[in-house]
Amino acid sequence: MRARGKRIGFVPTMGALHDGHLSLIKSARQRTDGVVASIFVNPLQFGPTEDFKRYPRPLRKDTALLHSAGTAAVFVPDVAAFYPPEFKTAVSVDDLGDRLEGAVRPGHFRGVTTVVMKLLQIVQPHVLYLGQKDFQQAVLLRRMILDLCVPVDVRVCPIVREKNGLAMSSRNAYLSSEKKEQAAVIRRGLQEGKRLLRNGEPARRVEARVAKLIQSAGLSVDYVSVADRESLEPFRAKTGQAVLLAAAKLSGVRLIDNVLVDVT
Ligand code: PAF
Repeated sequence: MRARGKRIGFVPTMGALHDGHLSLIKSARQRTDGVVASIFVNPLQFGPTEDFKRYPRPLRKDTALLHSAGTAAVFVPDVAAFYPPEFKTAVSVDDLGDRLEGAVRPGHFRGVTTVVMKLLQIVQPHVLYLGQKDFQQAVLLRRMILDLCVPVDVRVCPIVREKNGLAMSSRNAYLSSEKKEQAAVIRRGLQEGKRLLRNGEPARRVEARVAKLIQSAGLSVDYVSVADRESLEPFRAKTGQAVLLAAAKLSGVRLIDNVLVDVT
């Protein structure tokens, strides 16, 4: 495709595909000449007590979905070939990867940046498609791509939600429908936080209020943070472009979500 001057869009995934992934494929198809997707449950981005082994891997279903969504090629690397015993290189983005998700999941982003860098080298796309649900991941990958002059554009696509507002995630598959209803409080909390921020409520108070709302529905909160969209540092200004992020656990399942807020 490259040789023929075609623009290639790339959607990296860990499989267990849902409508969020398919919306990335759709956006990529609309704006490029052909889409490559990868399916790779990347061991480097899971902590020792996380769900690497249990992570769903419905490969046949995933490839069929990608095929019917019009994906030109699906790259499914083998772990041992991708990370042979002599593999020694890692890519990490300073401090941006240590806060929020990184503080709760040490080493996670080093795994993400390393795998995405390697995937980009192999696939050589023109445009990388990412979902806004993993907001911090998108910030880090953009930084890495700029810092290391990787010749690829980045497009971040909006979050796709279940009917009840819960952000789509492969990990939602671990939850029963009742639990999914319970988890939808994260979205409601973020919406309430957005309203308060727009009404001029100080960020700290908003964080506390949203955390309380989520906790009161029986979830355990890892963090609720009003952050700067680029530096991810706490947003404490009176006006500007912020992002309100939350991470919480329900029955051992970790869920994240966010909403953009223009504070005027
Ligand atoms: O967002 C994901 O699914 C993963 O972090 C990614 C980008 C495919 C890297 O493994």
